[in-house]
Amino acid sequence: MTAPATAVTGTHQITDIGALEILDSRGRPTPQVRVTLAGGIAAVAGVPSGASTGSREAVERRDGDQGRFRGLGVLGAVEAVNGEIAKRLTGYRWRDLAEIDAALIELDGTAGKERLGANAIVGVSMACARALAVAAGRELWEWLTPAGVAPRLPVPHFNVINGGVHAPNPLDFQEFMIAPLGAPTLAEAVRAGAEIYGALRSLLAERGQVTSLGDEGGFAPQLTEPEEVLALLVTAITAAGYTAGRDGVAIALDPASSEFRHADGRYHVAGQKLTSMEMVERYAEITERFPVWLIEDGLAEDDWDGWAVLTERLGERVQLVGDDIFVTNPAIIADAISRRVANASLIKLNQIGTVTETLEAMATCRRGGYAQLVSHRSGETTDSFIADLAVGSGCGELKAGAPARGERVAKYNRLLEIAAARPDLPYGVPPA
Ligand code: PGA
Ligand code: ZN
Repeated sequence: MTAPATAVTGTHQITDIGALEILDSRGRPTPQVRVTLAGGIAAVAGVPSGASTGSREAVERRDGDQGRFRGLGVLGAVEAVNGEIAKRLTGYRWRDLAEIDAALIELDGTAGKERLGANAIVGVSMACARALAVAAGRELWEWLTPAGVAPRLPVPHFNVINGGVHAPNPLDFQEFMIAPLGAPTLAEAVRAGAEIYGALRSLLAERGQVTSLGDEGGFAPQLTEPEEVLALLVTAITAAGYTAGRDGVAIALDPASSEFRHADGRYHVAGQKLTSMEMVERYAEITERFPVWLIEDGLAEDDWDGWAVLTERLGERVQLVGDDIFVTNPAIIADAISRRVANASLIKLNQIGTVTETLEAMATCRRGGYAQLVSHRSGETTDSFIADLAVGSGCGELKAGAPARGERVAKYNRLLEIAAARPDLPYGVPPA
């Protein structure tokens, strides 16, 4: 990387790279990046954006100019791509994506990618990955498959009830998902998700509830107690003709509890102020009463002691996924593995900021025996990169919101496309 710009070390020459400001699903600006290789192959990537972010995430760069988009513009990040990044990446022959990503990290020079902006860097990294896959004559998921890993079609986790910071309702838990673990194929899993979503809409309407949607396309009813929602989900699953449970359609929760742990150190849930230990007991009861197979961010990102207890108590029978606590960071995940905190990690490209580091995070999980749930953000574009990442990594799990709204179904539709082209790929969570 320190070689002069004219040196020929690799085969990939980027001739053009540029970004523009587009809108995400919440109507907020986000960068879209386009990369062109010598020979004319071009690829585009749209950058996602979170709302319930972890404090250690790579930093999204926003303009802060209150005169544009209420301060949320990304012209600075776009200019970083069009200026400094384009200058650094064009005119040099790159060996592979790892070398490109390392150059981006070095050029930025900060631990949190805040100088150029993680939203600039991740867009470039994703577009480069796509372009290199096309250049190799491979589908993106094939190109992303690490050596020695078997690709699989993931279980889609459809977020059908939204709360927390994703909806203006009194529900403290952020996400209630349905996961067709027992579906025979990916297509049948998508069908189950859509049919249960439809059944749920009818049930809510019958009960006089609003059927307006939260940020990820799930319904946002005026409900308060998590258990009330779980009972409703079981009813919807059954009403749609499916079996609620691991053999059929299971439930997954993302309380996103960092958002409702207050300065008093308590978790404020439905009017109660619970300690970490009381939260663990609440989850234990929930998992005994309802077919909940996965809990993400059950405790807050700074409550590592609580997490250790939660893992000890429920880790044998429930998948415990770290999102805000791990932020797709290989070093933090490695630390968690050594401390037996959680047994799975959420995987979000923009939390760490490059495709290479994301793949490292997943490799760290595989080595430590931790499962991985590939994830969208609450602010999305129609970019479907994460569908390919979930398939190629063989992790067997993807969450991309409701089975509705264009930016959410773009991911599920990409899975359907891959499944149709490759009926030989197995569906589901990998056998233990
Ligand atoms: P975010 O939420 O994209 O708003 O951060 C998603 C999640 O917490 O999993
Ligand atoms: Zn989460």
